[in-house]
Amino acid sequence: MADVKNPNKHHKHHRLHALLIPYPFQGHVNPFVHLAIKLASQGITVTFVNTHYNHHQINSGDIFAGVRSESGLDIRYATVSDGLPLGFDRSLNHDQYQSALLHVFSAHVEELVESLVGEGVNVMIADTFFVWPSVVARKFGLVCVSFWTEAALVFSLYYHMDLLRIHGHFGAQETRRDLIDYIPGVEAINPKDTASYLQETDISSVVHQIIFKAFEDVKKVDFVLCNTIHQFESKTIHALNSKIPFYAIGPIIPFNLKTGSSVTTSLWSESDCTQWLNTKPAGSVLYISFGSYAHVTKKDLVEIAHGISLSKVNFVWVVRPDIVSSDETNPLPAGFESEAGDRGIVIPWCCQMTVLSHPSIGGFLTHCGWNSILESIWCEVPLLCFPLLTDQVTNRKLVVDDWKIGMNLCEDRGFVGRDEVKMSIGRLMRGESREGVRGAIGRVKMSLEGALKCSGSSGENLGLFVDGLVAKVGLSNGKA
Ligand code: UDX
Repeated sequence: MADVKNPNKHHKHHRLHALLIPYPFQGHVNPFVHLAIKLASQGITVTFVNTHYNHHQINSGDIFAGVRSESGLDIRYATVSDGLPLGFDRSLNHDQYQSALLHVFSAHVEELVESLVGEGVNVMIADTFFVWPSVVARKFGLVCVSFWTEAALVFSLYYHMDLLRIHGHFGAQETRRDLIDYIPGVEAINPKDTASYLQETDISSVVHQIIFKAFEDVKKVDFVLCNTIHQFESKTIHALNSKIPFYAIGPIIPFNLKTGSSVTTSLWSESDCTQWLNTKPAGSVLYISFGSYAHVTKKDLVEIAHGISLSKVNFVWVVRPDIVSSDETNPLPAGFESEAGDRGIVIPWCCQMTVLSHPSIGGFLTHCGWNSILESIWCEVPLLCFPLLTDQVTNRKLVVDDWKIGMNLCEDRGFVGRDEVKMSIGRLMRGESREGVRGAIGRVKMSLEGALKCSGSSGENLGLFVDGLVAKVGLSNGKA
């Protein structure tokens, strides 16, 4: 864990100055913020870059001001345009937003990097989903690091897209449905468990273009960091390591609750439901959130709402204002909240780690975002899985089939029915199988804790990565 309280411990890397550029989505900004703190705690100067839009949404000035004054870490803060006007509805116009990030963003990043090179920036750590990092880093003579905020398994599937194509599991008119058993380090996997973009037959979308280019670019970077732990995915990581320096340094999640330092990252304003949670018995509340990015169809949302009502469980439900679409701000069935009465609350957003770590929380109905999974494991909250798209589909497999720390909301992903929702909530919160899941999640949590120790795998990998960086920067400066 980043030693925020004792930054003076590691000031040996003062020559390193890393520019951190997250993909400007909530689920990417969050781990980048905590990576910034982790690296600064190693004595590295960090300049963190938010887009103007996200800066505006977060609405708290320099988000690191508190951490800096409390701990003395050298984390600087900069903002850059994503190429679109501030008032542009990025959620409603998702493809145009992604297009701007694909085609326009790098020009703004280049201007920023040019202005910062004079301040000694010598490393760029950019999200793997960007299509330009190696090009921009080379242009300014920076060491290039790619940060993959998701599971190594998902990275590996994208990294080996050429193999999937050759075998006819991707990019064909009629894709194969048998097991994929030829990806180095990846156990045979059902195509239905691969990332949603790898299951689509129309591969001309803007997101596909981004994935294709990004996974060409990542082959040219100097290092890859991954928000996972070696124990979770050792074979996959080992195989990747034979091709590219790949360091598992996770979990990178908001530990600020423990360290006392705070960074505001939420793109929506948070509701505090602690008082309400305090009134509920231990383990009795189901927390429900479908993350920051995906939309849910109104039909599914309504079935889930009825299932929750029928289950009679206590609940906190985060219904993001744009969960169905920006046009429909209250998609829940009429009377849902009044029927729930004191049993449940619906809020637009919250500090998820604060909620998950509350003793009243007994389960998490989740879309299986990778951050949510890591946070839930950390808080030892069993998961009820409702993956929507992208890596969430693969994450479900890890959670339910491999680690057995969660259950499926519905057995058939294509059909959500209120009775099944009611039954699966009952199974997770009160069923006999709950104890097995709780035991498993306790063991997985111990792996996370172990990995974070200085002598643990992530602690060691972080050390190796920083040493590699020092050597590489020395080399680029002609000093090694
Ligand atoms: C997508 C991908 O599916 C995910 O795997 C990837 O890591 C990021 O992009 P997203 O919808 O952002 O997912 O989910 P998730 O990864 O779980 O990240 C959401 C973040 O928002 C978490 O850190 C969570 O703590 C935070 N959050 C969510 C809140 O702080 N408050 C909320 O009310 C809901």
